[in-house]
Amino acid sequence: MNINTNYLNLNESYLFSTIASKVREHAQANPAAEVIRLGIGDVTRPLTPAVVEAMQQATAEMAAAASFRGYGDEQGYGFLRQAIAEYYATKGVTLHEDEIFVSDGAKSDLANILDIFAQDNTVLIPNPVYPVYVDVNTMAGRNIVYMHGSADNDFLPMPDDTVQADVIYLCSPNNPTGAVYSKAQLRQWVDYALARDAVILFDSAYEAFVQDDSLPTSIYQVDGAERCAIEFCSLSKTAGFTGTRCGYTVVPHALVRGGVALNKLWLRRQTTKFNGVPYVVQRGAQAVFSPQGLAQAKTDIAYYLENARIIADALEQLGVAFTGGRNAPYVWLQCPGGMNSWAFFDALLEQANVVGTPGAGFGANGEGFFRLTAFGSRENTIEAMRRIAACKLMKT
Ligand code: MLT
Repeated sequence: MNINTNYLNLNESYLFSTIASKVREHAQANPAAEVIRLGIGDVTRPLTPAVVEAMQQATAEMAAAASFRGYGDEQGYGFLRQAIAEYYATKGVTLHEDEIFVSDGAKSDLANILDIFAQDNTVLIPNPVYPVYVDVNTMAGRNIVYMHGSADNDFLPMPDDTVQADVIYLCSPNNPTGAVYSKAQLRQWVDYALARDAVILFDSAYEAFVQDDSLPTSIYQVDGAERCAIEFCSLSKTAGFTGTRCGYTVVPHALVRGGVALNKLWLRRQTTKFNGVPYVVQRGAQAVFSPQGLAQAKTDIAYYLENARIIADALEQLGVAFTGGRNAPYVWLQCPGGMNSWAFFDALLEQANVVGTPGAGFGANGEGFFRLTAFGSRENTIEAMRRIAACKLMKT
């Protein structure tokens, strides 16, 4: 028996587990401290009335023999896939229902999708970015090539013709930097992928936060993307589903590699390894896409974006450089006085009882940066920024 030694190449724990355990230790050592958590991007607004009502009704259905449901449809219930297709139609994107796969969230699918790709593919990953992309490819022992984001390219790395890649992860709006690719930039990525027969894995988990109408919210808004991209989205941040769990993955029929439709491979994978999202949750998800549900979700998104504005204003007054926060729920700031990001994390926790996420946790290029989330309550966001402004640390 041999273990998968690729696991030995990972950091000892997942970024957000490391943060949670540091915060637990701090709280134990300082029981009176009122810690404000702006670290992991976990929502604080409750599920909206449209969602709750739909889930209550679905629960009642499950309680009666005549309306009870067991195993659901393979790719997710038709009612939800139809609602998602209609949502895409409002973006000018036409999807067939069987191109949509309902999932328990983007994270799992962004990892599981690797099952359908050969082991010897080279994977291109932005740096900094959501750490799951790197971790899951490290677990699988795949060759990773990084593309570098920095203030010089607004944290939006562009294709480099000298780099050969088979699988490309893109995240827009970006976690952690809040940067958003323009349509012209995505056009270049699609052209690069098509020229190489590569596949783009496009994480659009934060698409609902895009306010600027000229920015794309789906890669399929770029012609030809249906021949080279798989899109992953989630209701976690759009509609407060971090604990409820529902997302979806789009695998277009036109996406064919080695003569095989990837949609067929993914269907085969999912039907074998996944039994779907609970009926009650899928009814709640359907309600997110109703006119009422969309309006209620929009109100919560506006609430979080107002938090982002409060964070941004406070940083501006402190003279701290930052990006993000306008079309994304994250603000990405430069650590003061050239501090390294874990040292800044420790000092902020110690001096202000405020938790953020060290940029280095998102890749080497995140060193010297720090992420604050806008997903806190208004009260906590204001208080956190007051404490940060008062901190000795910020005066270095
Ligand atoms: C984050 O804080 O980056 C996200 O909450 C992580 C996630 O969505 O899994």
